[in-house]
Amino acid sequence: MDNYTDESSPPATAMSGALKNRPLPRHIAIIMDGNGRWAIQHGLPRVLGHRQGVKALKPIVKECSRLGIEVLTVYAFSTENWSRPLAEVTTLMALLEEFLDSETPELKDQGVRIRTIGHLEQLPKAAQAALARSCAETDGQTKMVLNLALNYGGRDELVRAVNRWLAEQRSKGANHDLDVATVERYLDTAGLPDPDLLIRSSGELRLSNFLLWQMAYSEIYITDVLWPDFTPEELLRAIEVYQQRDRRFGGHS
Ligand code: IPE
Ligand code: IPE
Ligand code: MG
Repeated sequence: MDNYTDESSPPATAMSGALKNRPLPRHIAIIMDGNGRWAIQHGLPRVLGHRQGVKALKPIVKECSRLGIEVLTVYAFSTENWSRPLAEVTTLMALLEEFLDSETPELKDQGVRIRTIGHLEQLPKAAQAALARSCAETDGQTKMVLNLALNYGGRDELVRAVNRWLAEQRSKGANHDLDVATVERYLDTAGLPDPDLLIRSSGELRLSNFLLWQMAYSEIYITDVLWPDFTPEELLRAIEVYQQRDRRFGGHS
């Protein structure tokens, strides 16, 4: 293990008190990475790693909602993941539909509203339909937002945002300059706070095109744990480390 990952902190069981005494992140973003390596380690096909990855997500959503986290954004499929073999992409889309169909009622009971970021129009029609159903069914829930990043890339999001703004400018014959607040209104994340905490599993030290604009001041926590092995205890550990950080935003403590 190197110095960049798994910062030392007390075991998760000792943390519940500490968690309450310092501010929680309002928005947690997770790069759920390592399904393939988990499968290889267990002598299984990659797709079973993805299935196990979906299984790991459920208790994390529940724990975030229990803790009072406002927004949980999970990176489920990137604009670059289309370069994987077709069979793997097809399995990932099928798992998405399965997750939405089986989990939406319970998520609704937990007060979770499902929303998405990413270029959804390029997803298979069945996946789009399942997403529309789940978003409609949980619309009006207010405890937590579960934000699914699907066919999401930070660069693609920015380009789509600017093009949408440009099209509106042209149609109105307007000639304004862009500013930060305007860009934010046109991003897929409009209306959400920026992530306070980014968690990446499986030890990779990169952003992989995730929330490039929004993570300007996110605290980053990277663990070597592979996503299918990521538990609520790991989540609490990440939050505990976050609570020890000194967020200066370019100023002084
Ligand atoms: C993350 O696991 C899931 C997706 C990217 C969809 P990976 O499939 O990237 O797993 P590794 O990185 O190969 O272990
Ligand atoms: C990032 O993981 C995307 C998701 C977790 C959905 P990748 O496995 O695609 O990232 P790279 O290729 O290692 O950067
Ligand atoms: Mg990966």
